[in-house]
Amino acid sequence: MNVLVLGGTGEARRLAAVLHGRPGFAVTSSLAGRVAVPALPDGDVRIGGFGGVDGLRTWLRGRRTDAVVDATHPFAAQMTAHAVAASAAAGVPLLVLRRPGWRESPGDRWHRVPDAPAAAALLPGLGERVFLTLGRGDLSAFAGLTDLWFLLRAIDPLRAPLPPRRHVVLARGPFTADAERGFLREHRIDVVVTRDSGGEMTAAKLVAARELGLPVVLLDRPPAPPAPVVATVPEAVAWLEGVQARVRTPPGPRAAGPGGGT
Ligand SMILES: NC(=O)c1ccc[n+]([C@@H]2O[C@H](COP(=O)([O-])OP(=O)(O)OC[C@H]3O[C@@H](n4cnc5c(N)ncnc54)[C@H](OP(=O)(O)O)[C@@H]3O)[C@@H](O)[C@H]2O)c1
Repeated sequence: MNVLVLGGTGEARRLAAVLHGRPGFAVTSSLAGRVAVPALPDGDVRIGGFGGVDGLRTWLRGRRTDAVVDATHPFAAQMTAHAVAASAAAGVPLLVLRRPGWRESPGDRWHRVPDAPAAAALLPGLGERVFLTLGRGDLSAFAGLTDLWFLLRAIDPLRAPLPPRRHVVLARGPFTADAERGFLREHRIDVVVTRDSGGEMTAAKLVAARELGLPVVLLDRPPAPPAPVVATVPEAVAWLEGVQARVRTPPGPRAAGPGGGT
């Protein structure tokens, strides 16, 4: 069974690792190509966009794909929308593997906002030294905040438009809560802006902010896609095994009902 995993996340790599070498499965992982030196999953890997919905539909048909698992980042909304449309057009079952969002704990001082402009509007009342960990596409919303100082962290160098008063640190997670606490203290951060990405890999900054009593501006996730969604790799594997069973046992010729013969 040919499986396409839309990747770029730890969950996608774990799913590819489970499927790789599993009898009956041939997995191809797809990466967008945003990161110069990506963490590569097991199995076949393709890198780069498909060319929109039509490109993905053509790819699915050309590769005789039996199932798609969209395991992209919860904020990769365009890729998810394309996966929904292209899978439907190609007649290929789609599952979304998406880790749950974070939950507020006692001591958290979270301000939930719908998007980056709303976060930028809220910031001046919350602090002056901001730790900003968002997707590249969201950073321009903060470029006009000339009175605030920003600490930005990214895997690869960032391009403008960025806030003018800033310091960029290049680093790849995961980070421990101790390291994050030290990082926030070292840069005298008084407010954190991040997205409700969920997951263990990047939760440490929220723990550190709670321990230091810092406010956090949290961007809400895009709306849930119109597709079945699971939260864990074992659930995704179980779903794929269900599809595999149907692929192996296609429905037989319809039995002639009473009076159906001529
Ligand atoms: N958003 C984040 O903050 C974030 C964080 C960690 C990892 N990532 C990973 O980085 C990738 C890009 O994220 P994004 O937010 O830029 O996505 P996006 O805005 O939803 O997607 C923009 C375009 O990038 C291409 N693309 C995205 N993911 C792809 C994939 N896995 N394989 C092939 N093409 C892909 C598609 O191009 P075409 O239309 O040409 O097919 C898509 O239309 C995703 O794979 C995601 O899992 C994102």
